[in-house]
Amino acid sequence: MEFSTTTSHAEAVKADAVAVGVFADGELTASARALDKASRGAVKAALKSGDMTGKRGTQLALRGLPGVSADRVLLVGLGSRDDFSDRAFAEAVRAVVKAFPGAAEIALAATEWSVKGRDSEWAARQFAIAAREAVFRTDELKSKKDEANGPSKALLIVPARHEGAERGLKQGSAIANGMALTKRLGNLPPNICTPTFLADEARKLAKQWKLGVEVLETKQLEALKMASFLNVARGSAQPPRLIVLKHQGGGKSAPVVLVGKGITFDSGGISIKPGAAMDEMKFDMCGAASVIGTMRTVAELKLKLNVIGVVAACENMPSGTATRPGDIVTSMSGQTIEILNTDAEGRLILCDALTYVERFKPAAVVDVATLTGACVIALGNVNSGLFANNEALADELMSASRGASDAAWRMPLGEEYQEQLKTNFADMANLGTPANAGAITAACFLARFTKAYPWAHLDIAGTAWKSGAAKGATGRPVPLLSQFLIQRAG
Ligand code: BES
Ligand code: MN
Ligand code: ZN
Repeated sequence: MEFSTTTSHAEAVKADAVAVGVFADGELTASARALDKASRGAVKAALKSGDMTGKRGTQLALRGLPGVSADRVLLVGLGSRDDFSDRAFAEAVRAVVKAFPGAAEIALAATEWSVKGRDSEWAARQFAIAAREAVFRTDELKSKKDEANGPSKALLIVPARHEGAERGLKQGSAIANGMALTKRLGNLPPNICTPTFLADEARKLAKQWKLGVEVLETKQLEALKMASFLNVARGSAQPPRLIVLKHQGGGKSAPVVLVGKGITFDSGGISIKPGAAMDEMKFDMCGAASVIGTMRTVAELKLKLNVIGVVAACENMPSGTATRPGDIVTSMSGQTIEILNTDAEGRLILCDALTYVERFKPAAVVDVATLTGACVIALGNVNSGLFANNEALADELMSASRGASDAAWRMPLGEEYQEQLKTNFADMANLGTPANAGAITAACFLARFTKAYPWAHLDIAGTAWKSGAAKGATGRPVPLLSQFLIQRAG
């Protein structure tokens, strides 16, 4: 879907369909008022008839209104003005886009649907993201494609030429493109989306967007002594890959490095998982997918910043060559790890990737991982868990989270939790006490490998995908990461 702004008014805009917002207290947005006037009271008449109440989630389609250029008009209920939230805004945009599956071009004045504390740059950005969300398709592997489900062009009506709105739209469109890539990779099945496939996708992206790319294979990983990473991969017939993508937009300045967990399928290994919903462990590469998606966004926006995306990709499978519970491995850092549970594999691949990235002398490192079920227990599907060894970096990411409406919640690290990783036989165990702050002890494990730079960790186990009828990758935390990098680029 293409986006642009227009200064045409709602009644005069050249589009197949135009949508205007109505609040639940009967208050009309400026565009709804203009449309009402042009159509000699069609909007107020709809309100009076009771067909449109303005309640959140409601809508009324009208056609062929006198004085209105667009043939189709949609009145969108925005709910109570006081409760109008980030989420209500996104819902309303998605509803508009979904209301016109047959229209090629739609228009709406979303910047006047004001959310408290948000400006038109935010509105334009979220508009693009929500609109693309509404037309995202999951029929790539269906023999019969889903029906066309939305317009190919969306116009944002703005009162006057507005730089903030232009910028927001451009950012939102690039973020939506990154999210779509992340979602596509996340949703692909584990027999197709293997570590080798991810590497090929990264190469394609690099070619298309002029990113640097390097893919390390088993021999090179052995030479680097990434034994912890390699041990997770050992049980699978699929070879591991370490993928490096580079965006050079910041001259000689130190790069921001993103590191993604790319377990293309997590069976648990010898500590095998129960069967229920095991298919969802194809999403265990969503950290990797969000790093690749964010690199696309960064390249499209030509951010004046050096950004390196690193993906550790492998499959966690049980077999005669798989790691056993009790095995002890020496990580790239030289620290030894007793693998008490082969299902705590994400930290085992990330620790070596986090040591590997020291070579880039990073200004900051952010890893992204569907790391723990415990994080889902703690924060549900709403907030990603944020951990950091650096206050300024944590603050930056929290501000990006807020700016991008991509919720995250700061979680603690600490010596008291570190104690859980003690073992008699190695420098550390790969897990803590069962049912005891599992998201935190996983982060504490990673913290032992990130002493060389400011570091943050996003546990996206609860936020990277949805289960149930709407099963699928969400594209999070691409908005948060993109916003963080946009802010850094200044
Ligand atoms: N990929 C899982 C984490 C996960 C579980 C994400 C459920 C989303 C939903 C991870 O590799 C894992 O299995 N973690 C274990 C760690 C435990 C063995 C210490 C977990 O969370 O149960
Ligand atoms: Mn696991
Ligand atoms: Zn996992």
